[in-house]
Amino acid sequence: MSGHWTEKLFIEKPEYFKRTIKERFKKTDSEIDGLIKLFTEYGVTKGSRILDLACGIGRVAVPLAQHDYNVVGLDISPDYIQHAKKYAQEKQVEHQTRFIEGDMRKVSTELKNQTASFDAVINIWTSMGYWDEETDENILRQSLALTRPSGVFIMHTVNKDNLLRRFQARDFSDEDDLVRLMDRKLDLETSRMINYWTYYYRENNGDLKLLEKMEINHRVYSLNELKKQFQDAGWSYKKSYGGFTLDPLTMDTFSMIIVAEKP
Ligand SMILES: C[S@@+](CC[C@H](N)C(=O)[O-])C[C@H]1O[C@@H](n2cnc3c(N)ncnc32)[C@H](O)[C@@H]1O
Repeated sequence: MSGHWTEKLFIEKPEYFKRTIKERFKKTDSEIDGLIKLFTEYGVTKGSRILDLACGIGRVAVPLAQHDYNVVGLDISPDYIQHAKKYAQEKQVEHQTRFIEGDMRKVSTELKNQTASFDAVINIWTSMGYWDEETDENILRQSLALTRPSGVFIMHTVNKDNLLRRFQARDFSDEDDLVRLMDRKLDLETSRMINYWTYYYRENNGDLKLLEKMEINHRVYSLNELKKQFQDAGWSYKKSYGGFTLDPLTMDTFSMIIVAEKP
């Protein structure tokens, strides 16, 4: 039996969530567009070194390399890292990318052979909050040490103040022959979302066959909480946005982007 839920979802059974990542490609162009605008605004020029923390299959890292950034992607999933390497080869950006299998909780050790410091660190699509708050803060602190002065951290995550307003206890997704039923609870004492995902395979006759049950448990943050966490880790808070359109963050914006700078 596996320990933490991330091991089961991303290492032992990576194929299920990989389907969700592939679906996410529909949004990738607008995400890259927003990211490049942010890079430009915060002095991260083409040719800069970007660290993509929890890069998955290179969905964001590879297009950034195609736009002339040099990207190091770190992810805990061996399957996703292999996929990212292949994707970079396919798009002929293997020289502008480096994909490393490793754990962001010890990102300094995982990247000890990387000499120059990064111009920007990115963490996209709610890719933190998987452990406790001390761990998140520690990842931010290690990232700070890996970044050049005036370099930035750009985090994109779910906006808790919107999540509370639109909370849906049950939902499903339909990805070809894979159906995912999602039941959710929000623990108000800890601000953690507890998701019960049940995957089914849809047979040709439409019947559903049970494949896998997963429990996903992660911290969700309000801007105010995240801002404090960045500051406690030594970052200087710059600005927030309500997603990659770069509109202001409000209670109506599903996602939140926070930009912090290394003093
Ligand atoms: C929601 S996905 C986002 C992937 C990618 N950022 C994207 O936007 O396509 C979360 C990612 O976090 C990775 N992850 C989970 N725990 C990790 C850890 N301890 N260290 C590094 N990556 C981790 C997973 O393998 C997965 O690829």
